[in-house]
Amino acid sequence: MMQEQNIPPIPVDSFWLPKAMSTIAPELDEAFYIVYWMSVAFFVVIIGAMVWFMYQYRRKREGELTSPIDHSFKLEVGWSLLPTFLLIWLFLVGIKGYANASVAPGNAMDIKVTAQMYSWTFTYPDGTITGGELGVPVNKPVRLVMSSKDVLHSFYVSNFRVKQDVVPGIYTTLWFEATETGEVPIQCAEYCGTGHSQMMGKVIVMEQAKFDNWLANGGTDEKLPPAQMGAKLFATRGCPTCHSLDGTRIQGPALNGVFGRSQTMSDGTTITADENYLRESILNPQAKLVQGYPGVMPAFQGQLTEEQVDALIAFLKEQK
Ligand code: CUA
Repeated sequence: MMQEQNIPPIPVDSFWLPKAMSTIAPELDEAFYIVYWMSVAFFVVIIGAMVWFMYQYRRKREGELTSPIDHSFKLEVGWSLLPTFLLIWLFLVGIKGYANASVAPGNAMDIKVTAQMYSWTFTYPDGTITGGELGVPVNKPVRLVMSSKDVLHSFYVSNFRVKQDVVPGIYTTLWFEATETGEVPIQCAEYCGTGHSQMMGKVIVMEQAKFDNWLANGGTDEKLPPAQMGAKLFATRGCPTCHSLDGTRIQGPALNGVFGRSQTMSDGTTITADENYLRESILNPQAKLVQGYPGVMPAFQGQLTEEQVDALIAFLKEQK
């Protein structure tokens, strides 16, 4: 059975764009609509004129001569200057929005984002680590410092109008300030492998007091028993992309009945999966590979707290 990650739908309140839910979104939308309506206007004027000219100046009789008029100085100056001013205006609108979207306010809270195939990890200033769920306070600027453990990904929250490549070896940043509480989806906007379309998450925008409580509980509204916390981690850390819980073979071994199972490793030895084996396989999966499976799982060393590793093991023990 697939563990659902419970991704909310994209909030929408108009035909064209997802609902604008950050401080910079209206500014970007304004730029979009200026370009959009300008394109509509020019389309109508140019295509309209073309159709009208085709009709008006069609050849009406045999031997008709073309007009001797070959240019108009006024017209040419006009259609050079008008677009020039329009483009300068567009540039100013664009550079203003770009500058605002690029530079985070000085009081922004820094959250570290780590992307890996196929999940998002968020590390808070107090050491709290969450996967797939980015809790943030409403009306407070948040700056994301992002890097990738493997390939190119792209962090995309359409409702905030933010999208930024997440690249191995360097940090990229983006910032936003959410303007209303609720949940909005995070998508990966750069094709990164077979699990790309499932590389989702959500931003949970909360009132400050609720956020403080959420963070104090390690990224949940209330403390969960280990196995339930493990179930949530399993769903939000990208595990179901490669591991089934019903015996189906995906990329990695099925994990139902894994605890206490004897398995042949790629070096021919047989290992019974106990707590230590599961722990090692989560934190450093390449150490011991089950025979017949490729060593493609990303290491979660540093991506999970001790408590979270315990919770995942407690969850796996329950999968019969
Ligand atoms: Cu990560 Cu697409």
